Amino acid sequence: MNQSESEYDGIAEAYRDSKQLSFRKYIEEYTFFEILGDVRGATVLDLACGEGFYTRKIKQAGAAEVTGVDLSAEMIKLAEEEERIRPLGCKYLNRDVAQLNMAESVDVVVAMYLLNYAGTKEELLNFVQVAYNRLQLGGRFIGFNDNVQHVPRGTISFAQYGFDKVCTPSPQEGDVISYQMINEDGTRFEFKNYFLKPETYQWAFQKAGFSNFQWVGPFIHPSQQHNSFWDAFMSHPPLIGFSASKQG
Ligand SMILES: C[S@@+](CC[C@H](N)C(=O)[O-])C[C@H]1O[C@@H](n2cnc3c(N)ncnc32)[C@H](O)[C@@H]1O
Repeated sequence: MNQSESEYDGIAEAYRDSKQLSFRKYIEEYTFFEILGDVRGATVLDLACGEGFYTRKIKQAGAAEVTGVDLSAEMIKLAEEEERIRPLGCKYLNRDVAQLNMAESVDVVVAMYLLNYAGTKEELLNFVQVAYNRLQLGGRFIGFNDNVQHVPRGTISFAQYGFDKVCTPSPQEGDVISYQMINEDGTRFEFKNYFLKPETYQWAFQKAGFSNFQWVGPFIHPSQQHNSFWDAFMSHPPLIGFSASKQG
């Protein structure tokens, strides 16, 4: 994909603001850090870093070096602006992950919602292979994804959480899943992912060389575990975490 084609250039600020929706904090961020564990002193590559929401949080959690990579020039601009205003030492690159060619290898590769941009099994394998190639032996690849384990039967409203998930009743390989977002200030915007079957994900991780790929969570922050507000979200979770490691 060409860098000028990113759909996020037009929605960069709205997407950044969507990080204030409560499911981000109580489910997405909580689950992400449960999977990530202790990163103190680690080197981390944050693929599809967007405006750096998790890049910064990983650095603040004690990582030695964190580099964020994103296709959208506007997202990277927001990330760099934030770095200038409140410096943490995060580095950013405006690149297509599919063509990422770096010499360095790292302890942890993160991909928060990158893999669901693969519209074919070959594109998925390429993303997963890039992650594998950037990892040191013993390194981990973790992140979040559209929950392809829970195949949506058409449109599902998660309006009380700030979005609708729109797709065909029985999605096939490469079908579009559209997230129609409503931020707390009423701003509406949309972005699109692609559906690939769970077995396609298993295949890509195995083929790339990972031996222990698994879907993880999502989990609710302990402070919210008895809050029935989350029941509808958790009964058919739209999002899910994953982890895999590169073994010697
Ligand atoms: C849903 S946003 C997630 C951003 C960030 N990881 C977060 O959790 O806030 C998806 C991001 O993936 C980026 N993206 C999509 N395809 C990409 C590619 N081929 N290479 C790099 N970034 C990509 C988009 O530009 C966008 O910033």
